[in-house]
Amino acid sequence: MTLFNRRKQHKRRYDPWDLSAPLLYWADGAPWTVGDSCMGTQVFGSTGSGKSSGSMAAMCRAMLRAGYGGLFLTVKPEDRDTYVGYVRDAKRLDDLLVFSPDHGVRYNFIADEQQNSASPVGLAENLTALLMTVSELGDRKRGGGGGGGGGQDNERYFRLEASRLARNGLLALVLSRQTITIPDLHRLIVTAPQSLEQVASASWREDSFCYQCLQAAEQSPKSESLRADFELALTYFLREWPALSPRTRSVVQSTLTSTTDLLSRGAARDMLSSPTPNVSPDMMHDGAIMIADFPVLLYRDVGAMIQVILKFMWQRAHARRDIAKNHRPTFIVADESQMLLVDADQDFQAIARSTRTAVVYATQSVSGMIDALGPNSEAQVHSLLANMQTRLCHQQTDIRTVEYMQQLIGRRRQLLMSGNQPRDANWLAPLIGPEPGGSAGFGEQWEYELQASDLNSLAKGGPPHFVTEAIAYQGGKRLPNGRTWMRVPIRQR
Ligand SMILES: Nc1ncnc2c1ncn2[C@@H]1O[C@H](COP(=O)(O)OP(=O)(O)O)[C@@H](O)[C@H]1O
Ligand SMILES: [Mg+2]
Repeated sequence: MTLFNRRKQHKRRYDPWDLSAPLLYWADGAPWTVGDSCMGTQVFGSTGSGKSSGSMAAMCRAMLRAGYGGLFLTVKPEDRDTYVGYVRDAKRLDDLLVFSPDHGVRYNFIADEQQNSASPVGLAENLTALLMTVSELGDRKRGGGGGGGGGQDNERYFRLEASRLARNGLLALVLSRQTITIPDLHRLIVTAPQSLEQVASASWREDSFCYQCLQAAEQSPKSESLRADFELALTYFLREWPALSPRTRSVVQSTLTSTTDLLSRGAARDMLSSPTPNVSPDMMHDGAIMIADFPVLLYRDVGAMIQVILKFMWQRAHARRDIAKNHRPTFIVADESQMLLVDADQDFQAIARSTRTAVVYATQSVSGMIDALGPNSEAQVHSLLANMQTRLCHQQTDIRTVEYMQQLIGRRRQLLMSGNQPRDANWLAPLIGPEPGGSAGFGEQWEYELQASDLNSLAKGGPPHFVTEAIAYQGGKRLPNGRTWMRVPIRQR
């Protein structure tokens, strides 16, 4: 009886979600802990180097075994089956939700925001941030990206203006109606006045959905502070917007309407603006696991948009959770993550640890990330990487990635022997000093601790051994070999 009680006490004390609890071991004495997972993990490796079947598989399986809830994003059509397999092996099928047209899971991101925003202004603000994140994908496709391109200032200006349009339009909608929808926002934007004359004209007032919303919002009950915010929206639509040059107005408008248009159609509308939603990101704090089965390579832009919205909303749910009440860790996993990266990821990564969120991304190379985010995105890429503490680098030939890993790990002092006499003529010269007529000695040189050959020569897995190798680096932690990095074997199943 006593023994039983003690055991029970011991059991209660062990917390599998403690930050120090190991999830897996890269090698003896080199654990990847719950805390490590919540500080972000970036996997690199050429195509076929063993990212997916090696380190990603090991980490996903370990997090599922430990009871994490989370979100799997997908790029390749086969990703869904891969993740279902991991969930099945971890005996967690009861926790699984597959987000795809042929399953019954539906979401409504506006309803979700409405439920969780403290005020109408907050709601308008949050939805604006979401729309701007989505429009980033479109801009990138059109050759912007990373705030870049020749007209960097221009582009920043248009984005800023687009977010003002969204913010003011959403506030008018939020104040004028119970239920807001994206098609309504679209309608409000396209019926906004195009000139100051129009503002004064009776026929515009009669026909314009925008005007009707402003009128209803004007009449709705408001606090002092809300009234002040609404006055700004009113000034915006009746004075500033119509006074913009037609060209500016059309660029700003299309930045936003291309997004609202996509969101109002087909799968994006049915899955993300469902009248009968049955899933919310908060469910993952109780262990729900969702696979966003809209692989980018199959669904293209729409697939990327749907998944970026899910990622954004899931991140938002993480950010507001109360760890003191429920500290079950959760994950956001994306293989080929470059296809789904957005600016907001950086901000989220900075708070991921305090919200117990394990972000695990795999991508081919630093160059691939820069390509995906557009010209001038190098700083953005590095800032995102700086917030990922664990890096696993599989076989790699991309020079930028090699240099990135080299700089990350740093240099060590190498003693080099130098001399101008042939070694066999006087082999002791470097140690006891040169003979007259010759010169020799030790020179020291700081060279990269990690050599390109260390990354080139890693095993890629597959037959006959089914072992892939990676260089593991964990945010300056000492590994059992006394260094900050280590070559580790990872078995494929
Ligand atoms: N489950 C598996 N078991 C054994 N070998 C695999 C498995 N999956 C892939 N492989 C092989 O291992 C190598 C690495 O594959 P993969 O993990 O898909 O690489 P990456 O994700 O880096 O492109 C390839 O040669 C592939 O054929
Ligand atoms: Mg892969």
